Amino acid sequence: MSEPQKILVVFGTRPEAIKLFPVVAALQADPRFTPVVCVSAQHRQMLDQVLAIAGLVPDHDLDLMKPDQTLDGLTAALLTGLGRVMDLEKPARVIVQGDTATAMAGALAAYYRQVPVDHVEAGLRSGNIYHPWPEEVNRKIIGSIASLHFAPTEVSQAALLAENVPADRVHVTGNTVIDALHWVSARIEGDPSLAAGLDELKARFAGKRIIGVTSHRRENFGGGMEGIAEAIRQIAARPDVAVIFPVHLNPNVRKVMGAALDGLDNVALIEPLDYPHFAHLLAISEIMLTDSGGVQEEAPALGKPVLVMRETTERPEGVAAGTAKLVGTETAVIVTELFKLLDDKAAYEAMARAHNPFGDGQTARRIVELLGNEIGR
Ligand code: UD1
Ligand code: UDP
Repeated sequence: MSEPQKILVVFGTRPEAIKLFPVVAALQADPRFTPVVCVSAQHRQMLDQVLAIAGLVPDHDLDLMKPDQTLDGLTAALLTGLGRVMDLEKPARVIVQGDTATAMAGALAAYYRQVPVDHVEAGLRSGNIYHPWPEEVNRKIIGSIASLHFAPTEVSQAALLAENVPADRVHVTGNTVIDALHWVSARIEGDPSLAAGLDELKARFAGKRIIGVTSHRRENFGGGMEGIAEAIRQIAARPDVAVIFPVHLNPNVRKVMGAALDGLDNVALIEPLDYPHFAHLLAISEIMLTDSGGVQEEAPALGKPVLVMRETTERPEGVAAGTAKLVGTETAVIVTELFKLLDDKAAYEAMARAHNPFGDGQTARRIVELLGNEIGR
């Protein structure tokens, strides 16, 4: 038998870790591969939360995060740091996920060494390079470099084919987020104490209708965030509602949300939740209000209506299925749409259908099979 192939798996933020730990596990279980994990730690605490629950110990940790980091400062550090690890490890292939600065720089550093790059969650496109910003361009750069493109759905496959990526390089695999969600749901079922950190809030808000909120997009900083904060303040003025909002550690988010919402009776601004607690928040929420990418995939899978606080989405599948709706960042629109869901049972029921276009929870296994075929070619 030939030597196992060394695969360098590169990631740095919370969502990449959630979406790649199933791939690392599948690679570890396959004798054809030796996975080597390099984290940039573009995120620190929020990345570590995922590493801890997944029991994943990176082989390399660049520990790059700086407070309120700039896109160029971060990207420069990523390129040199990841390049150094690639020179040391000399991987046969590099895997990146999604559209973060880490993923883009990881792909570019591999390309500079002529090492093939495989892209997990390929082909998402909003068609607008400033929404989301800078993710739309990050993933287009990765798309122009990648060897194998693992598209979550036929929509993302079509976007890649429209950019002239050869059809035999694109595979519809589903999204590994569903693998992660299944895994964490089973863990919580086996051990409910994994999500017991929310018990106190559940008691405080007993009888109220829970709205789960997350927000962090760079293009929403400034006016957009203020519009979102004011909407949450107005929503929480209703006595029948409670908002649970784990606040992203980005200081640009915390400043605005803290100033507008701290101390309100029906609002809990809390620290970022680890994955089991966040999955539990999804389960107990009546509606999710978010600008997150991953939450747009998880909430429909659980039959939770999602109001997406963005102008565009690269995940039209949830909108097409009726479980997600784009509401932008204008206060009046967010409040009107949310109240409609709270007060119009038929409107709520029309959205609250479990719908899962993003895979069957077997995506990581499928990706590793495809990688096996590729190295066997
Ligand atoms: C990044 C990604 C974005 C992704 C998001 C997921 C880029 C350019 N952006 O955005 O695509 O959707 O992660 O959450 O790649 N911070 C901490 N601790 C942490 C994490 C962040 O203190 O664990 C603070 C730091 O001050 C840091 C700042 O947040 O400088 C911004 O982090 P950064 O990764 O640059 O941007 P995000 O907005 O998190
Ligand atoms: N998430 C989490 N704790 C939180 C908020 C979110 O574990 O407090 C998870 C969520 O389940 C999803 C992912 O983080 O899988 C989404 O990350 P984020 O919104 O930061 O990034 P995006 O998906 O927008 O890139």
